Amino acid sequence: MVYVRVPATSANMGPGFDSLGIALGLYNTLKISETDSGLEIYNNSRDFIPNNDKNMVYRAICRVFDEVGYTKKGLKIVQNSDIPVTRGLGSSSACIIGGMLAANALSGRRLSYGDILDLAVSMEGHPDNVTPALFGGFCVAAEENGHTTYVSNKITGGMKIAVMVPDFYVSTKTSRVSLPEYVTLENASYNISRAALLTSILLSGKTQNLRTAVGDKLHQDIRKTNIPHYDEIIEKAYDSGACAAYLSGSGPTIAAMISDKCVNFKSRMSEFLLTLDKKWKCMVYPIDNVGAILKVI
Ligand code: HSE
Repeated sequence: MVYVRVPATSANMGPGFDSLGIALGLYNTLKISETDSGLEIYNNSRDFIPNNDKNMVYRAICRVFDEVGYTKKGLKIVQNSDIPVTRGLGSSSACIIGGMLAANALSGRRLSYGDILDLAVSMEGHPDNVTPALFGGFCVAAEENGHTTYVSNKITGGMKIAVMVPDFYVSTKTSRVSLPEYVTLENASYNISRAALLTSILLSGKTQNLRTAVGDKLHQDIRKTNIPHYDEIIEKAYDSGACAAYLSGSGPTIAAMISDKCVNFKSRMSEFLLTLDKKWKCMVYPIDNVGAILKVI
């Protein structure tokens, strides 16, 4: 049997559309074993996850088996995930990375982690969630012609990521359709400068100027129109001491970076979220600097 634990991720981080992402101490764990025949899938999720051949973990396993030419027999997949589904926290990336790592172990470890990243990016469509899900930390990733170049950076110094998660869903695929195909040079330049600034600040271990560094003109203003209370939540996060607040991935979760000096963030946000007409929850997670863990038991 193969055991895999994969972290949740928060992608884009404001300006780093399809490029920046960070891993959180919130996990999807999978136990996967080969059986004589058939497919058995068990999961603990309160959200809908198909327990058939449309299951994302199963599809990722099949993708690796096809790639290496491995003929599978049956499979048993037991998933225990704490990552909210379709909320902008990398739940599908965690399934893809988990399934691919397990399949690689079951089929004789023929793929390197770089090969797995490239396969995962081709399945997910962009590298900003799958890269930190696999390698942990704060990741910068760039895909070109089917190959992803990345750097994974460990973030120390006590920074945590708070996530404000609503009880409604936003599908990344649907939300990307509303984005324009072309952007102005001015907006492209705005995002490039912020993405570079954000990367430099996070690598320096400082927390000053993060609010400027998470500025974005490519996607958040369009996406926030489908997220009730977006501006109020961002404003309250800053009032409560956040260094930065942004839309996590394609949303609807809103993420905030909080330093170790920020006290009572969770209680202040939770109290505020209770006043809103939609149900939101605030959780605070450390940054995961380890990435996916695989054990063959
Ligand atoms: N970068 C993606 C998007 C989401 O903004 O659509 C995370 O992969």
